[in-house]
Amino acid sequence: ANALKIGVAGLGTVGASLVRILQTRANALAVACGRPITVAAVSARDASKDRGILMDGITWYADPVEMAKQADIDVFVELVGGSEGAAEDSVRAALVRGLHVVTANKALLSHHGVELAKLAEEKGRLLNYEAAVAGGIPVIKTLRESLTGNNFSRIYGIMNGTCNYILTRMEREGLSFADCLKEAQRLGYAEADPSFDIEGNDTAHKLSILTTLAFGCEISADKIYLEGITNISIEDIHAAADLGYRIKLLGVAQKTESGIEQRVHPTMVPLDSVIAQVDGVTNAVALESDILGELLMVGPGAGGEATASAVLGDITDIAKSRPGAQEVPVLGRPAHLLEPYRQAE
Ligand code: HSE
Repeated sequence: ANALKIGVAGLGTVGASLVRILQTRANALAVACGRPITVAAVSARDASKDRGILMDGITWYADPVEMAKQADIDVFVELVGGSEGAAEDSVRAALVRGLHVVTANKALLSHHGVELAKLAEEKGRLLNYEAAVAGGIPVIKTLRESLTGNNFSRIYGIMNGTCNYILTRMEREGLSFADCLKEAQRLGYAEADPSFDIEGNDTAHKLSILTTLAFGCEISADKIYLEGITNISIEDIHAAADLGYRIKLLGVAQKTESGIEQRVHPTMVPLDSVIAQVDGVTNAVALESDILGELLMVGPGAGGEATASAVLGDITDIAKSRPGAQEVPVLGRPAHLLEPYRQAE
C-alpha cells in the first residue's frame, strides 16, 4: 500500500522521540495502519546534532516554512512551538498546500485555532492536535468524537505538568521553587519560556481549547482570569495541608446563566479527593456532562515520550483514514458553526 509520508518540524524533546518511535516501530505501525508511515523530511536548526535518528532518506530543512511548502510529504507535523512566526506560517502554508497537519501547539491553537480549522475544513484536510492539551491524555479525541451529544456543564483539571511537578516536589521534599523549576526544565517538561508554565498562560491556552470543544463556542483565551503559582511558598503548601488541603494549579471552565466562566489559579483541593492525589508531571482532566456524568482522566501531562505518543496517535489516525470518508470537525463542530464566545458576567 501507499506509504504515508510525513515531515516533522522541530526536533526537540518531543520531535526526536517521535521520529525514533516511528523508525523503531515501523513494521508494527505499518501492520496497524495498513500502510507504512515514513519520515520523509525533518526541519531543525542544527542538522549535525546527534538525536538517535537515522537520517538516511530524510530530507533536512533549516526552515519549517520551506519544508511545509516544498517537501514531498502528505502530513506536516508542527512541533516548533510559539503562537506566531515559523509555527504559524508553516502550519498555514501546509494547509494552504493541501497537507494534513498534526500539531502539539496549544499557544497557536488558542490564538488562531478557529481560522486554521476553517482552512483545514475548506481544504478537506485533517488538523489533529491531541498532544496540545494534557500531553498523553486522549482528551481531545474524547471530546471531539466520543462524547458528542452530551451537554457539558463544567470542565476542569491540572493541565500543566511543570507546575504540578514543582508543587509536588516543594511539598514532598521541601525543595525551593527555583530548584524544582530548573529540574522541570532539565527533564524537558517546561515551555521554551517557562514563565508560560508558572504564570498560568499554558494552562489558559489548553483550557481555551477544551472550552471550545465542550461548549461549542469560539476560542477565547484572553477572557480567562489568570493567576500562576509564582507566589506560592512552602509555608502556603504546609498551611493548606494542616487544613486538610493540597494546592493545585487548576484550569476551570463552566457554563453559567450569563455565559461561560473560565479561570486559572492555584486552588485548595481536599486531601482525600482524587485530584489531590495527582502528583508530579501527571495531569488530570474532569469532564462533567448530562448524559455521561463525571469523567476523570489522569495521565502523563508532559515529557518527550508521552507527548510523542499523542502525536503518534494523530498521525496513525491520518494513516488509517480513507479518502472520501466523513471527517470529524476540527473543533468538535464545523468551524463556521461555532457560537460567538459569551463571557459570564
Ligand atoms: N510545559 C507544558 C507542561 C508541556 O508542563 O505541561 C506540555 O504541554
